[in-house]
Amino acid sequence: MTGSTDARRRDFLRAALGLAAASAAPWIGATSATARVLRANEARHALVGAAYPETEIWGYDGSVPGPLLRYRQGERLRVEFENALPEPTTVHFHGIRLPNAMDGVPNLTQPPIAPGARFVYEFDLPDAGTYWYHPHLGSPEQVGRGLSGALIIDEDKPPAVDRDLTWVLSDWRLDRAARVVANFGNLMDASHAGRIGNTVTVNGAVRESVNAVPGERLRLRLINASNARIYGLRFEGHDPLVIAYDGHPVEAHRPEGGRVVLGPAMRADLLLDMTGEPGRRYPVIDDFYARTAYRLLELRYAARAGRGRAGDALPKLAPNRIPEPALDRAERHQIVFGGGMMGGGAMDKMRRGMVWTVNGRAILRNDDAPILTLAQGRSAVLELVNDTRWFHPIHLHGHVFRLLSRNGRATRHREWLDTVLLAPDERAEIAFVADNPGGWMFHCHVLEHQVTGMMAVIRVS
Ligand code: C2O
Ligand code: CU
Repeated sequence: MTGSTDARRRDFLRAALGLAAASAAPWIGATSATARVLRANEARHALVGAAYPETEIWGYDGSVPGPLLRYRQGERLRVEFENALPEPTTVHFHGIRLPNAMDGVPNLTQPPIAPGARFVYEFDLPDAGTYWYHPHLGSPEQVGRGLSGALIIDEDKPPAVDRDLTWVLSDWRLDRAARVVANFGNLMDASHAGRIGNTVTVNGAVRESVNAVPGERLRLRLINASNARIYGLRFEGHDPLVIAYDGHPVEAHRPEGGRVVLGPAMRADLLLDMTGEPGRRYPVIDDFYARTAYRLLELRYAARAGRGRAGDALPKLAPNRIPEPALDRAERHQIVFGGGMMGGGAMDKMRRGMVWTVNGRAILRNDDAPILTLAQGRSAVLELVNDTRWFHPIHLHGHVFRLLSRNGRATRHREWLDTVLLAPDERAEIAFVADNPGGWMFHCHVLEHQVTGMMAVIRVS
């Protein structure tokens, strides 16, 4: 129960110091935490519909996705977590700028939580937006069996929409009896694109359709909670605008090529005006992998128009208060991601589970020596080089970074992200202020890549 002791100590310190917290940001400590219990356990779940048996899954509170955790910006989250799985686990709250001890990385920020044991996660929520939570131990199997859930933090003044929807996209590898295929951690997946499944669920079920009312305006929060699958979503007959990436507001814009691309762990908030015709159906197509394009679901319009906000002026989301990196004074480093099936990796290394590399080294342990140490408060620009033939969504813990450029070309929106998808042979520059002390994971979020070498620790001290 280190979590709870630490949290209590912090609370005590905060009370004792009083003003220190208050001067940092007006909202911190404004609301006291309401505790909630969260349990990871085995359960059965109807993923693919009544024609098939239920699937044995691992889920938070036995469900897929786990319960929606929803707070207001500035509130304090307190989750009393209990591990009812047959193996150790941890919970990582992806994208949240939180104290290192609450980051849920086994052997780096906390000991693994043994079966039957508990751990209390408690921290303030500085940023509004769309986030998620998942295990950070044995994650290819634990996420692959269903452990993931949405974490939504509402703005003080959320934009005016008619409905606020969340789609958690999960990818499953199922057999004909709808059982999870248990070939986790195989070298074939690890050395290629990761564990890509054969069944995609939206909020825990394969769905024919989602109801829509003509004239309404939706805020649609997309969360890619899949091990390895990348999505490229087209909303036929519609014109979605991206208003946030990874939780952070961005100038409203059409996605490139009309397609919303989301690598593992990435999120996008869309503004979707339901401008289709009453009574019609419009497919949402995922054609990221062109040869295996499929219909994710249909938007099924009601016969009669409602009185919605479609076509209203675009709402403006207030930005989160993220420190701006000082580019002129930043330290610069290059980080090269290498390896994989076509990267000339020696077969023998592969057999030992060392498939991928970061700056030439396959790192298999969370508590390995840091690849980089940054003085607290320093600005850093990292040039990320994908020296492989595969896609890699690269995620930094505890911080949010600006995406400055891709292949030497400045990005249009300089978006804030916590995960950047690198295409084969692509380079990208990211910038951030290393303001959060501790050892932070920096890894590929294709979970099979992460555990076979494509991870590192960046230390801020
Ligand atoms: Cu979504 Cu290291 O995690
Ligand atoms: Cu990868």
